[in-house]
Amino acid sequence: MDFIPQIEPSFDEKEADAVREYVLSGGWGTEFKKTAEFESRLAEFTGAGHCIVTTSGTIALTLALLARGIGPGDEVIMPDLTMIATANAATLFGAKPKFVDIEPETLNIDIAQVERAIGPKTKAVIHVSLNGRSNDLDALVRLCKERGLYLVEDAAQSLGSYFGDRHLGTIGDVGCLSFSMPKVITTGQGGAVLTNDAEIAAKARKLKDFGRAGGGNDIHDTIGFNFKFTDFQAVIGIEQMAKLPKRLERKKDIWRRYREALAGIDEIAWIETDTGKVAPWFVEIFVAGREALAAELKEKSIGTRPIYPPIHAQEAIGLDNLSFPVTEDFAARGLWLPSSVTITDRQIDYTCDAIRAFFGG
Ligand SMILES: Cc1ncc(COP(=O)(O)O)c(C=O)c1O
Repeated sequence: MDFIPQIEPSFDEKEADAVREYVLSGGWGTEFKKTAEFESRLAEFTGAGHCIVTTSGTIALTLALLARGIGPGDEVIMPDLTMIATANAATLFGAKPKFVDIEPETLNIDIAQVERAIGPKTKAVIHVSLNGRSNDLDALVRLCKERGLYLVEDAAQSLGSYFGDRHLGTIGDVGCLSFSMPKVITTGQGGAVLTNDAEIAAKARKLKDFGRAGGGNDIHDTIGFNFKFTDFQAVIGIEQMAKLPKRLERKKDIWRRYREALAGIDEIAWIETDTGKVAPWFVEIFVAGREALAAELKEKSIGTRPIYPPIHAQEAIGLDNLSFPVTEDFAARGLWLPSSVTITDRQIDYTCDAIRAFFGG
């Protein structure tokens, strides 16, 4: 069996032809009509009132926070189990992440603990719908409204996943998507801010375009940056969006195939997932001593990846005097299995056979 990567992107003639056509059409490369079209497709798909694309999911989160004026001295509550970008997006402009533990059923931020963590400096909460799953966002919206807090949804992993009938990233004040390589659609790098709030949308647009007072001029009434997208990326994004519905179905099939093939192995724990609402970007299992399993799978040409370590204890953050037991427990056991949209049923079955054999089945 050829090596099965844990994740790989998928492009074909559609993207190649679209880039060629764009380049030969005299497009300037910089964000313009193709970017606007990509934004419209995303807004239409998610139901968001406004969509602003930017350089990455990290910068989408940063723009979301800056658009509400969050900065030095402000605290942002977030889960301890997430990709480190969630925290770094706040740190970039001097805000301080305040970590809380997660719920074991969904691996989402523990809402009761959010309530306890709110202090005088708290300005915002970031909810992370890890792997497209969500806990009770309505309860979190209520809590944030009551306490005057800005609710940001880090929906980087959640394009195509829903809470009830609402797309993730459209329920809080603002939501953020990522189009980095491992995501269900990719533009190489890229991210988007989703919001129904016209003021937040206008601020985010201005912040990413040098703080220009109007399009195309050099009059600046506020500080801004260059976090703009490119039309080169947008033409790829538009083609990837056309493939999205099929990809989401495939992601759900992949999840179900693994779940069924590995059912009954007592050593494996799962986060149960409703594929009616959730299109998991990665399939993850939880096993004690995952390193031995990962090594065995590598021997058999199967790529895996441990899930994120608890952020508070990362050297970059340096809060290892704190403890978040649920995060620590899941982070120590979580292993991502091969999950690309390109994976074949045969490769999934081969991977599941190898896992079964490891557990002596
Ligand atoms: C939950 C989460 N937040 C933020 C990010 C950052 O996105 P990007 O890599 O586009 O900066 C990621 C990327 O994997 C993520 O998974």
